[in-house]
Amino acid sequence: MIDPNSAVDASPVLAEDLVNDADVTPTADANVMADQAEIAAPAEQDLPPNVHNQRWQSYLKDCRELIHLVEPLEVAGRIVKVTGLIMVATGIKMPIGGACFIPLQDGGRVEAEVVGFDGENLLLMPQSAVDGVVPGAKVFSMEVTETLPKPQFGRPPRRRAQDRARHFPVGDGLLGRVVDAAGNPLDNLGPISTEVMAPLSGRVINPLMRAPIEDTLDVGVRAINAMLTVGRGQRLGLFAGSGVGKSVLLGMMARYTTADVIVVGLIGERGREVQEFIEQILGPEGLARSVVVAAPADVSALMRLQGANYATAIAERFRQQGKNVLLIMDSLTRYAMAQREIALAIGEPPATKGYPPSVFAKLPALVERTGNGARGEGSITAFYTVLTEGDDQQDPIADSARAILDGHIVLNRTLAESGHYPAIDIEQSISRAMHNITSKEHQQAARLLKQLYSRYLRNQDLIAVGAYQPGSDPMLDVAIKKRDQINAFLQQDIDESAYMQACLQQLAQTIS
Ligand SMILES: Nc1ncnc2c1ncn2[C@@H]1O[C@H](COP(=O)(O)OP(=O)(O)O)[C@@H](O)[C@H]1O
Ligand SMILES: [Mg+2]
Repeated sequence: MIDPNSAVDASPVLAEDLVNDADVTPTADANVMADQAEIAAPAEQDLPPNVHNQRWQSYLKDCRELIHLVEPLEVAGRIVKVTGLIMVATGIKMPIGGACFIPLQDGGRVEAEVVGFDGENLLLMPQSAVDGVVPGAKVFSMEVTETLPKPQFGRPPRRRAQDRARHFPVGDGLLGRVVDAAGNPLDNLGPISTEVMAPLSGRVINPLMRAPIEDTLDVGVRAINAMLTVGRGQRLGLFAGSGVGKSVLLGMMARYTTADVIVVGLIGERGREVQEFIEQILGPEGLARSVVVAAPADVSALMRLQGANYATAIAERFRQQGKNVLLIMDSLTRYAMAQREIALAIGEPPATKGYPPSVFAKLPALVERTGNGARGEGSITAFYTVLTEGDDQQDPIADSARAILDGHIVLNRTLAESGHYPAIDIEQSISRAMHNITSKEHQQAARLLKQLYSRYLRNQDLIAVGAYQPGSDPMLDVAIKKRDQINAFLQQDIDESAYMQACLQQLAQTIS
């Protein structure tokens, strides 16, 4: 048995030892002794006042007060060069991806990110215009440590450099809001009220832990639901030139999809298009369950990159909560162009059609963050628009995107020009997940419709000039007979929604 009085017994001995050593100067041992004094503390009220203890206590109290007087040294670097898009700073050490700011004489400041280094010099990319920066201007680090959560069980350790970079608001507080690439509201609806902050770059999901694509996601567009069925967690490209109907199609999906949350990243589009997308295409009912991140063409390349990453981070947060997210990124090409701008500015040599190699590394890094989460988490189904100007299928970004996405939907200008909307070219488009998530009957029906459609197109000219003799090709006869029905099936008005069940019934009717 432990004697409950033993602590009391031990204390006088300890106190006496201290008295004997009373003339030692307080050095590193002070901590040890302070600890011992604390151990002895519970018994204090039972003891006569101890001179030695009192001396130590007052000494430690003085120390405590002195510590409060210490002013931490603020390390500042200096701007030594600004050329084009890049600022060079010296005298400060910061990691790649770290954020810093340069105070201006008028009280404002320019924020920047470390995008490279050269010997002792840091290469900084400003987030906004650099007007007002003077030679020798000070540079301060903005590394945030206070947002670092305390270690917790069941949470990944936060040792990555990215976790010490800036954090941005994510979570439910953003629903129905329009924000810029730094999480500042653009919609005049007041500050964003969300407690949850996350770094821009999410954690990589172990490919073996990812839930497979097993369920369909109803996107509310007939041609896609029936012919190019999208799986939950699938990533698709929407390939088209400008003015072919990408934004309208994405807006229709955003309004009619059965996904829980929609995150829209408008990257590098014209400012006018941003407003049009939000007010006319998305509309109030679409916006209510959406978050829009807008980084239009006039913001810096860095902000455009950040906008895409921020939209993805927002989607990742919803996925973590178990929600099925539809992420719409318009456009992936502009994201690549922003990365090209930065890479060329810091001296990376261009490789393929003016794109430096880092661009092709950044694309999969962004795209791989979406998709299904680990089992038990939600999903991010993503649509990335890819610009194929002049139907240039050799465009390196289109090429690279096709390789990293699980399918592509091609919009055809000829169809759009003939008033066939959505102008989806069902011959050239493919959903690589469709095979795994649809029934055999559905696949057969879709294949038959595609065959009829193609057969007609191949012989269109013959039929037009009356050179085709009905009866010589039974398949073509059916195609001609069904022509109008098939076209009506593939077309859809902006205000019309088409849910999966209805789509499948209509598909069966069309080819019967
Ligand atoms: N489903 C549709 N029904 C009717 N018109 C459409 C449809 N989709 C697109 N359009 C027409 O095409 C135009 C351009 O579409 P938009 O989505 O802005 O093109 P993009 O984003 O590819 O540049 C729209 O202004 C609209 O007139
Ligand atoms: Mg558009």
